[in-house]
Amino acid sequence: MSSPFRIAVFASGQGSNFQTLVEAIQNGSVDAEIVLLVSDKAKAPVVERAHKAGVDSYVFDPKAYAKREEYELEIAAELERRQIDLVVLAGYMRLLTPVLVDRYAGRMINIHPSLLPSFPGKDAIGQAWNYGVKITGITVHLVDGGMDTGAVIAQKAVEIRDGDNLESLEEKIHAAEKELYPVVVSWFAKGLVHVEGRKVSVLQN
Ligand code: GAR
Repeated sequence: MSSPFRIAVFASGQGSNFQTLVEAIQNGSVDAEIVLLVSDKAKAPVVERAHKAGVDSYVFDPKAYAKREEYELEIAAELERRQIDLVVLAGYMRLLTPVLVDRYAGRMINIHPSLLPSFPGKDAIGQAWNYGVKITGITVHLVDGGMDTGAVIAQKAVEIRDGDNLESLEEKIHAAEKELYPVVVSWFAKGLVHVEGRKVSVLQN
């Protein structure tokens, strides 16, 4: 493992999780460096956040390629060139192929706004809200070839109470993400995560 611990963040949208990681590194709670932002959306706010944070961006247009594998090979070359230790998906709204999944098996994580395996895929917060569950939450998991199917690393429950609405639930979910994701990234940076099949454990700090 190179030093400092080198992270690439993949994101397609607002980038609030990206920002949280930037701040967690700045305040010393995560001992790592964000070396690269990868985004499939040139106009996404996360690209501007990366610029402000002094993080290099690799922005690509998926429509310019015939196959996902083609742009993923280019991304893989960028990641290898920068000797990335961990790939952190933070609102990256595309399925990945084995080109990236196999190269970064056990070293690629995602945050999803539900308690998986409930409500995978798009609009997980809306799915949970419409279903009427009383407890939902967030999941950080390893990335495999499926849609939000990789081994679970950590979860945090969020209650849906009388008086909540979709907006207040979204706020609670995002607050939970802000708490949990930097902690999980710091476990990886410290080499504390142990994976055996679908069982992921965190060694004592
Ligand atoms: C987050 O809520 C994240 O959990 C979700 O996208 C949002 C991105 O927000 N990811 C997924 O739904 C993945 N299936 P952000 O751009 O502000 O970090």
